[in-house]
Amino acid sequence: MFKVIAIANQKGGVGKTTTSINLSSSLAAAEKKTLLIDIDPQSNSSSGLSVTNHSPSVYEVLIGTIDINDAIINTYMPFLDMLPANINLVGAEIEMVDLENREGLLKKALSGMQKDYDYIIIDCPPSLGLLTLNALTSADSVLIPVQCEYFALEGLGQLLNTINIVKQHFNKNLTIEGVLLTMFDTRLKLSHQVAEEVKKYFGEKVFDTIIHRNVRISESPSHGKPVILYDAVSSGSKNYISLASELLQRNSSV
Ligand SMILES: Nc1ncnc2c1ncn2[C@@H]1O[C@H](COP(=O)(O)OP(=O)(O)O)[C@@H](O)[C@H]1O
Ligand SMILES: [Mg+2]
Repeated sequence: MFKVIAIANQKGGVGKTTTSINLSSSLAAAEKKTLLIDIDPQSNSSSGLSVTNHSPSVYEVLIGTIDINDAIINTYMPFLDMLPANINLVGAEIEMVDLENREGLLKKALSGMQKDYDYIIIDCPPSLGLLTLNALTSADSVLIPVQCEYFALEGLGQLLNTINIVKQHFNKNLTIEGVLLTMFDTRLKLSHQVAEEVKKYFGEKVFDTIIHRNVRISESPSHGKPVILYDAVSSGSKNYISLASELLQRNSSV
C-alpha cells in the first residue's frame, strides 16, 4: 500500500497541522513507514516534531535546487520521516509562478517514493494557492478536517470546487479520503449540531472517529511531540490512534 494524503482546508485553525502530526505518528506507531511533508510556511508541523528552522527544506525541493532524498530527515520515531518547512517557503509561491509545471513540482519530487513509504501525509497551508495546489496534484486523496464550530461548512464549497478543478486539469484520480470532525466538545449542543450538519452534507465520507477537544493535544506541540508520545493515555491520543486504524481499515478493504 502506498498512498499520498493531503490534509487540506483553506480555513486556518481547523486542525490540519494537529491532524498531520498525530495521524502520521499514529501510522508510524502502527509500523507503517510514513513521511510527513510540511508545506506550510508557518512550519508548525515541523516545530511540532522538534524540527525548527531546518535547512534544506521542502522549499529547495520545490524550486528544484536539491534532491528530495537529501532534504528528508529522520524523526525520533523509527517509522516516521519528515520533509520539513522553514521560513523560506513564504516567498516560494511567487518564485514558483515562473517555473514550468508549477503545480506539479511536488508530484515530480515524489516520484519513486513508493519504494520507501507506505503513507505520505502533506500538511497544507490555510489557503488554496500554489502550495496547496502542489499538494493536491501529488495526492491520491484529501483528508478535510472540519472544526465543530460556527461556520464549519463555510468555505467547503470552495475547497470542493478546487478539488474538482485539480481533478479536471492535473490529477484525475484524486479522491476524498474523508472528512474529519475536530475539536468536538461533547458538552456543547453546537458541536452535536455541526456534526449532524456535516454528516448530512458528506454522508459516509465522514470518519466514524471524531477528534474531541483535549488539552493534551494543544500542549503537545510545545513539547515537540505528537500526543501519543506526550500523553499516551489521553483522549487525544486515543482519538488519533483510532483515526489511524479507521484509515488503515478503510484502505485495506479496497
Ligand atoms: N482536538 C483538539 N483539542 C484541543 N486543541 C486543539 C485540537 N486540535 C487542534 N487544537 C489546537 O487548535 C489550534 C489550531 O490547530 P491547528 O492544527 O494548528 O490548525 P490548522 O493547521 O488547521 O491551522 C492549535 O493551537 C491546536 O493546538
Ligand atoms: Mg497548520
